[in-house]
Amino acid sequence: MKVVVTFPIPPPAKNLLSQHAELVCWDSEDPIPKGILADWLETADGLLTTLTCSIDEGLLANASRLRVISTVSVGVDHIDVQAAVARGIAVGHTPGVLTGSTADLALALMLGVSRRVAEGDALIRSGAWSEGWKPNFLLGTDLSASTVGLIGMGPIGQAVAARLQGFGSRVIAWNRSQKVVKGVEFVDLDDLLQTSDIVSLHTALTPETAGMITRERLSKMKDGAILINTARGALVDEAALIKELRAHRLRAGLDVFVDEPLPNDSEFRQLTGCVLLPHVGSATARTRQAMFELALKNLIAGLQGAELPAGQVGRFT
Ligand code: DGY
Repeated sequence: MKVVVTFPIPPPAKNLLSQHAELVCWDSEDPIPKGILADWLETADGLLTTLTCSIDEGLLANASRLRVISTVSVGVDHIDVQAAVARGIAVGHTPGVLTGSTADLALALMLGVSRRVAEGDALIRSGAWSEGWKPNFLLGTDLSASTVGLIGMGPIGQAVAARLQGFGSRVIAWNRSQKVVKGVEFVDLDDLLQTSDIVSLHTALTPETAGMITRERLSKMKDGAILINTARGALVDEAALIKELRAHRLRAGLDVFVDEPLPNDSEFRQLTGCVLLPHVGSATARTRQAMFELALKNLIAGLQGAELPAGQVGRFT
């Protein structure tokens, strides 16, 4: 059996996997060129990949032996899941194991923006902190006194809600389907946008959610409100958000962008009132280890024609 790996795989995972299959690995940090991936997939039984590698219908059409795609991510928006399922290819991902780390980072961004952490750090490093403590210096807003609106109440949204309850914030939420979560008031999307001091996105990127935070929806947010995004950049109309940030009407904490890495000429880099992170929601050693372990289990089960331990994405679509 042959498995294609689209990224430099850590040696312990490589050793484990090579006990189950012959490996063809892309060992460079640069993305694997599509032509090479297409060639390799023609004779592959399994694929281990990440969210930086797009797996579309064209690639799958020539991958006649492929039985399983395992991605080291919870998000599967980089994979044409429908096309895979239609070809009988199992798709596995890594839900659950990154919930806490991603929720922690959403809180870090909320505090980072509301208490102006990055601005304070930059100020000291630039030598601009010259007058000591001043009563009106670098004033922020209190998370404990904030209404936080969560869009998407899957496991990550719920973990964020639990953390916010510890801070004493009022938590409101909107979810596509109805849910009951202790201590959380469910409201419609317009209400959430109009009443939240902080709006935080926790929904998967799908054709239905792409671009859901439109210019019009951003304009409904309160003056000075904060948008937090640890989910996917393409949920948001970035050009409209940049306009709001440029006008100092909104603030933002962003871990994800439409184009990653963020291009050098992106206007986000010039703006104050926003904290930018390089897609590190799941980036703790423990969580990444758990993601790898689960992805390998998914892959090996798929090669053996067994049920994937983390559940098969799109199985019933
Ligand atoms: C995911 O898993 O989808 C996150 O965005 C990165 O870990």
